Amino acid sequence: MELDEAIRTRRSNRNFEEHEINIQELKKMLESGSLAPSAKNRQPWFFYVIYNEDCKKNFLESMRQGILELEQLYKSKNIVRPDIAGAKYTVKSMEKAAAIILVTCKKKYADIYEDGVQWPLQARDIEVTDILSIGAAIQNILLKATEMGYGTLWVCDIFYAYSRIEEFLQTKDPIVSAICIGKPNQESRMPGRLPLNEIITII
Ligand SMILES: Cc1cc2nc3c(=O)[nH]c(=O)nc-3n(C[C@H](O)[C@H](O)[C@H](O)COP(=O)(O)O)c2cc1C
Repeated sequence: MELDEAIRTRRSNRNFEEHEINIQELKKMLESGSLAPSAKNRQPWFFYVIYNEDCKKNFLESMRQGILELEQLYKSKNIVRPDIAGAKYTVKSMEKAAAIILVTCKKKYADIYEDGVQWPLQARDIEVTDILSIGAAIQNILLKATEMGYGTLWVCDIFYAYSRIEEFLQTKDPIVSAICIGKPNQESRMPGRLPLNEIITII
């Protein structure tokens, strides 16, 4: 598959069919991730691979539990959070994925320096560049998986169950995303994109 085809046909899949994946295939995708550019070549990514059925079940149970706790917390404060339903839907989408990869950011670099740049964001420069680098690695993994005939879903709804997942992984490194990989059982339609003239200014 040509790169352009992979870029154009990659979709977020939320319907996977039962399918097993082997570690060699996953390693090929992860190797593509490891070839991504990274700020100062820090390679701040770390990948936890879950593809065994029991482990997947345990992970999803932790995620469900974390979301439930958050929901109960907001209910007790009489705060309505409709977005929590979206996180529950994401868990459903993850159930049939052949593998779930949890991506963490190696924190050792972010702790070295104080903020070196005056960001108008509440974020430190090293953290921002590390997260950007990890995003590049994730996109490489998604495109490689697409080329290999797999569907993928990039997931940040893990944040709704952050402490449960931290407990599951037994890590203090920040968890930045999950990636689901599996055989899609239906075509996903492409959500619209902004036209180029709305996102470009030629100076
Ligand atoms: C950083 C990031 C986080 C995302 N998190 C979720 C998620 O938690 N659940 C979900 O269903 N989709 C998630 N998505 C997928 C987006 O909804 C999707 O990329 C977008 O709607 C465009 O659709 P497409 O990927 O098919 O082009 C995420 C995408 C990105 C880039």
